[in-house]
Parts: sequence; structure tokens; C-alpha cells
Amino acid sequence: FQKKNEDYVCSADVVSRRDCGYLGIGAQECHDRNCCWDPKQNNLNAPYCFLRQHSCKGYGVSSATTTANGVQVQLDLNGGSQGCARFGEDIPRLKVIVDFETKSRVRVRILDRERSRYEIPASALPNPQDTAKVIGKLDYDFKYTENPFTFSVIRRSTGEAVFQTKVPGKDSLVYENEYLEISTALPDDANIYGLGEVVSGFRRDTRGTRQTMWARDAATPVDENVYGSHPFYLEMRNGTAHGVFLRNSNGMDVIISPAKLTYKVIGGIFDFTVFLGPSPADVINQYTELIGRPHMPPAWAMGFHQCRYGYTNIDQVETVVNTYQKEDLPLDGVWIDIDYMDKYKDFTFDELRFPESRVKKLAENLAATNRSMVLIVDPGIPVEPGYGPYDSGMAQDVFIKNKAGKPFEGRVWPGQTYFPDFFDSNGTWSWWEQHLRETRDKIGPNVFPWIDMNEPSNFCNGECTSGQQTQGQPQTPSKQEAIVNSKYSINNAGRQAPLSEKTVSEDAVLKNGLSMYDTHNLYGHMEARATHQALTNLLPNTRPFILSRSTFPGTGSSAAHWTGDNWSEWNHLYFSIPGILSFGLFGIPFTGSDICGFIGNTTEELCLRWHQLGALYPFARNHNTLGANPQEAYLWPTTVLPAARQALRIRYSLLPYYYTLFDRASRVGTPLWQPLFFQYSNDPLTLKIDHQFLLGDSVMVSPALYKGQIQVKAYFPGNGRWFNLWTHECIIEHDSHGGHTSDDRSHRYKFLSAKADGEPIPMSIAGGHIIPIQAPQNTVADTRAQPVSLVIALDESGNARGEVYVDDGRSLVNSDSARVNFEMLGGEKLVSSVSMNQDAKAAAAGQSFQSRVGHSSEIEKITILGLNFARAGGESGAKTVFKASTHSWKSKVSECHEE
Ligand code: GLC
Repeated sequence: FQKKNEDYVCSADVVSRRDCGYLGIGAQECHDRNCCWDPKQNNLNAPYCFLRQHSCKGYGVSSATTTANGVQVQLDLNGGSQGCARFGEDIPRLKVIVDFETKSRVRVRILDRERSRYEIPASALPNPQDTAKVIGKLDYDFKYTENPFTFSVIRRSTGEAVFQTKVPGKDSLVYENEYLEISTALPDDANIYGLGEVVSGFRRDTRGTRQTMWARDAATPVDENVYGSHPFYLEMRNGTAHGVFLRNSNGMDVIISPAKLTYKVIGGIFDFTVFLGPSPADVINQYTELIGRPHMPPAWAMGFHQCRYGYTNIDQVETVVNTYQKEDLPLDGVWIDIDYMDKYKDFTFDELRFPESRVKKLAENLAATNRSMVLIVDPGIPVEPGYGPYDSGMAQDVFIKNKAGKPFEGRVWPGQTYFPDFFDSNGTWSWWEQHLRETRDKIGPNVFPWIDMNEPSNFCNGECTSGQQTQGQPQTPSKQEAIVNSKYSINNAGRQAPLSEKTVSEDAVLKNGLSMYDTHNLYGHMEARATHQALTNLLPNTRPFILSRSTFPGTGSSAAHWTGDNWSEWNHLYFSIPGILSFGLFGIPFTGSDICGFIGNTTEELCLRWHQLGALYPFARNHNTLGANPQEAYLWPTTVLPAARQALRIRYSLLPYYYTLFDRASRVGTPLWQPLFFQYSNDPLTLKIDHQFLLGDSVMVSPALYKGQIQVKAYFPGNGRWFNLWTHECIIEHDSHGGHTSDDRSHRYKFLSAKADGEPIPMSIAGGHIIPIQAPQNTVADTRAQPVSLVIALDESGNARGEVYVDDGRSLVNSDSARVNFEMLGGEKLVSSVSMNQDAKAAAAGQSFQSRVGHSSEIEKITILGLNFARAGGESGAKTVFKASTHSWKSKVSECHEE
């Protein structure tokens, strides 16, 4: 079967094994075939008997120079002209550019020394050098070996290599025209988070994970590539965090197997940035500094949203809005799916079912109560002379072209379509803006776009003209349709499906000369950028709201995200948590999942639980598919309705906290939903927990996620005290001895009651924190007018702190804003310090800050939990006297009892 010489070795990693036998082959026959035999169990169904691989000897350093802030190394291919030739032609001469960009961030680029290769254009992701500045001593060292060339990034404080490309049994570096491979060594059972978009547990499985990045419209299959591409991971090692970003938009597989992580990329360059943290929040701060900070959403968008695919006419939508009102359910965003369009054509209205005048009237009614409307817009423009956006698009030459230079033709909801080239930031962007403007002119200023199907999704596999393939039906894949299929097949769709499956072919071209092969993963990201730019032009100094399905690093600066077409099933209620936590790492904290599930019929209990959890999603929307049973909460008047009302009131009462957290995310990237290890990095039991999460730094949510569940076994991380946020009871007292093994810490598991009959979702607040709340009303705007109250949870020394950020909730640049820090010390004194920006003119004109920002600046009530902290005088549960100046202070004393 195979040549046996030293050029062919048995080094194939599990996922690259190519079968050399058949099911049931034995060792002897495998050896007789001259193949490799490894009968160890693996969870990727890899063959035990597999072909030898051509050995790759890597590159050797031919010269190296030190630069102002780094080093440059020249590499030559080892092994002479034969080289490695694993999946095509080797690039013989490389250049490694290492830039010490900041104290905690180093960038390592490996490039072809002789010819330029595709790199993500700066128009898609600004150059990191723009933000680079080295201050003080570096947190890392960069080291390399000469032959074969390998490199490592070492954390100075511990001497540990956080990125190390010398990996036993792996090739040091493969750099071919359409195939790049490099590995990094990991500890056994490493704690890796991120790499997506994927439906899976939050902590990635080190026994064998193959994460493919190729944007794909697929109804959330587990462990496959779906809508977005995020080649970023965060790793926790001994309580310390680092992050690794591969700045590359080509298709790739990232493979995690015991003790190593391997990148297999089918184009572009290796361009790594390693972030040294050391805390998880530091890593995300450093990462979002590079890719762009999350945008600050308008306040209304932090409220609740109702949507469905299949509202049959505007009356139905109005009824939904009225019923929300009648049933006293908060609602801020009213959504209409493709149903509103005339034959699913963007920027049109079905005059029979959704007449423009009626949609406008509804939008006006919503605007009158400071609520908004969201209308879906898909990228596919129908090929239909006489249809405005088609005509103008043709005239302005905005569509992606096929190899022959004709607009590339695919098929989406409206039938045959062309796809706008969002890389053309002049022509296409202004054409897009012009049509978004039409909708705004027709319907009003409080209408915002939901950009869907932007992988881009195509019902055909690659190009199809009318008449080919059945309309509206996704086609089964056929190998023949792969046009450029690269030699290494990434694991698209979990079965190495062609790159063109259900999307625009990879050989389609953009105006800038780039191909979809290189830029496919950026399509949704560029559409989000174009849309964001359009909205900022249309509504100056107003925060846009955009929801995008496909995303890439940096999309968080423009858009929110939802996790796509999930299922009305219990496991998808759970999957929403790792989904949102992962997008927090990706710099897109404004994420949610379809509440009650999109595909299939929900059940009463599931929908109840989903409202309880979903009301806390950073982006909270009930959404449902065509043909599924309706799932608005009020359809179950005695069960889901009261639970949803309670859950939404919880959300709305926490709005000042959410707002403050969104502000922080927009400044330093900290996600709203955090895994427990973000705050309790030294507590190893937190590393595997993804059914509980933190809301901000201080509130922990422990939801019921199973059918019939009535209590939750919740883990209380750290050594501090925790209080029940609803009953104010102390759940667990401070624990001075700590404990590091699971046994020592077993007392930190508690059973929390979570009945579905009126009990709120279990939420706990950690001692040491202060959170702001407001009395919930049925809109964000009305809630903002309510005075603020504080919940103060004291730590064992009687201390707590917190903050609240306030501005007008809608401007991009605010002349009026206030940041108030609260601090309680020794349980005696509450101190607040305020830093404020004031619109001097308005202030001089006598307008109050409160009226200018539409937010109350009064404090109504203060609740203090845990007054029995240990005091020097030994007193416990002592009363605290508040000086009431202009406000009336009420306090409630709750004691944290010793266990
Ligand atoms: C896609 C979207 C879904 C939407 C549907 C119809 O499946 O993911 O949210 O409802 O298209 O527009």
C-alpha cells in the first residue's frame, strides 16, 4: 500500500488520519499494508489503521534581527526542494515578524518572504498597530529555536510558556500555498474556552475537538461550524488567564487533543496575538482593545423583544403589542420577520398583509411610548428588473461577481438573488444606506434593522440560475459542485462538505479583487459595518441597534448577535448559556438566544423556564419559526404569563445594573454574563461550571434547566458570603479557611429551591457588592424615570462597593453623564462619589440633569444585607444610622447566620 522510507511517518494526528483499512482490520494486516496502527479509543471516529504521512521537517532560521520593538527572523524550508508538500506547494522562504505591541500583548506574524499573501484588509479589522504602545516592562519573553524553527511566548512572572509551538509528535511549522499548520503545547486537560461559533459546552473538550471556522447557515447542530467565525480562545492555567487570537479569515480547523492545540488553515497567513492577562477580564480587555470595543446599545434595546416568523398580518402584530400591554408585560422591541415584505423583497411591504401605512402607524405608536420596531433585512437582492434595489444595485455595480464577471446568482427567500459586495465601502455602502433610508423615511426613525442570512446563506450549493434546483429548498451536498475545493478539507458541516455548500462559491470575486475563498467568513461582519455606518449617517449622534447572525472578531462594535435557529428543546435552553458566555469572550456581549426556542413546538414548562432565564440574557427576545405553535408568554395565562411577568420585572428592575454593565463592556470589554472563574479564578471548581453564571461581578444566576426540576444544586465559588437576592437570606457565610480540594469545598454546594409555581429564578449576590435597581415599569423609558434603590450586600468586614452609570440612553456622544461610585465601609458609612459631565448650556438654562437624561437621579431605598459582620468590638447585627438629607432612607437588616 505505502512506501516505507523515512519520508513517510506515522505522525498523523487523530483528525488527519486517512483510512488504510476497513472496519475490523487487525494489527497484522495493517502492518502488512505498511500503514500505521493505533487502536486507542478516540472520540472522533478516526480509523485505527491509517496511511503514513509525508514527514515535514519544518524551517530553519537563516538570519535574525532585533527591531525597535521586537525581532524579525528569516526562515528557509528544510528538506530541499521536496520539502513537506503535505497539501500542496511549500512556500520556501518565510519571514517572522514579532512585535511587542504592548506590555501584555505580543503579535507574531509568519509571512511569505517573497510574495504577499491574502491578509484581512484593514477596512474589515483595523490594524492592531494603531492601538499599540509599549509601556513599562513586558509581561512576556519571546523565545525561538533555530532548527527546526519553533517559538514560545513565556509569561515572565511564572516562566511558563503560554504559547509553545514545539510540540512532541507534531510538525513544527507547515506553510504551503493553501495549507498552514502549527501547534501549541497545552497542559493535560487544559481549560480552553472560546473558538466558535459553536453549539457545545463552554469548556472545550480536550479529548478531541475539531472546531471548524466557515460561516454556515445551519440550524444549530451540536459541535459543528455555524454562523460566525471566532479564532480566539482564552485559557486558564493555575488561576491565571491568557488569550490567543489568530487574525485570519480563511477556512480552518482548530483541533484540541490531549496536551495540544493545532491550527490547520487553508489560506492567508499566520498572524497570532497572545494576550497575557493575567485575569480573564484583563484578557478580554486586551482582546477588545485590539479588535474593537463592544458598542453601547441604546437603552430601549436593553428591554424585552417579541418576534416571530409567521405573524400573518399587521393586525396580529398589533394584537401582540396590545396583549403585552393588557397583561402588564414589559416590552420595548416589536419585530417583524420577512412576512412584512412583498414576496420577501427587502425594503418593500406586502400591501395586503402589512400595508406600509399600518406598519408606519404601529411604529409611530411605539415611538410615542419610546419603544421601537425592528424589521428584518436579508442581503440577497432579487434579480428582478424594475425592482428598485436591483436596478440601483446594477447601475451602481454593487454585486459580487462570478468567475465570468457576471453578478453571482444564488437563491434565497425571494427566489433568484444577487449578493451585495459589502467590502466596497464606497459604492455598496452608500447604495445600502440609500435603501435603509427609504425604509426610515417611510416608517419613521425608530425602525432598526435585523440583518440575517449573512453567512451568506444560499439555498443552492454555489451558483444557480433560475430553473436549477428546487426553489426554496436547501440542497443535499454534492462533491461535484465544489469548484475550488482546497486540498485540505476543513470539516465543514461535520463531514468535510464543499466550501460552497449553501453559500456563495469560493471563487466568486469582490470588487477589490479578493475572492470569497479568503473573505467568506467576513461577509456578515462587513454587512454589519455597512449597516452601522448607514445608521450613524441617517441618525446622527444616535446609537444604532443592529442584530446580526453572522459575526467575526470586531462585529461587537457594530451589532448585537443571537445564537440562531435553536430548538424548542431543553438542551437548547442549556446551550444558550455557553453560547452567551462564549460571545462575551468574542467581544460581543450583547447576545441572546431565541426564548422558548425557535424550531419546533415549545412546551408550557420549557417556555416558562426559558422566560425566567431569557429575561436575563443581555439580548432578550422571544422568537419562533413559521408554523410552530405560538409562544408568547400570555398564551398560558396561569403559568407562563405570571412567571414571565415576574422574570421581565426582574430584568427591568435590574436595568440600571445592566446599563452600567453595558457601559463597562463598551469601555473595557468586560462581558455582562461571565463564567464563574472570571471572578473566582483561584477556585478550580469554577472551571467546569457552565450551568450557572455571573451577571456582572456580583450576582450569580443558578437556573433550573431540566424538565421537572424543582431545585438546583448550586455551587458558591470563592470563600465569601452569598445572599439570596430575593429573600435576602444568607445562603452561605464567609469561610476563612478556604479549601482547595473538592472535598474541602463540598459545603459550598447548596440546594436552592426553584419551583415553577411563582418562585423567581435563583439569584444570589456576593458579599462585598452594591447593585442599583429601579421599580420596573413596562418600558425601559418609564423604568428609567423611577428613583434608584440600592441593594448592599456586605462582606464579612462590613464593606461593599458598586457603581451606577447614567446618561441619556441614546446618544453616541453624551454631554450629560454621571458615574456614581458607592462604597460602604465597616457597615457604618455609605459614601458616594460622583463624576459628572454636564451640558453646561442646558444646565444654565435651568433644566435639571434628571430631565435632560430621562433618568432619575434620586435614591429611594437602601437595603443592607449581612449586618452581622465581625467587628472589632465584637458586636453583631448592629443597627446602622443613615443621615437622611434630602432623601428618606429605609433600611432592612438581614443577618448572615453562621452555618
Ligand atoms: C432564518 C433566521 C430566523 C428567521 C428566518 C426567517 O432562519 O435565523 O431567525 O426567522 O430566517 O427570516
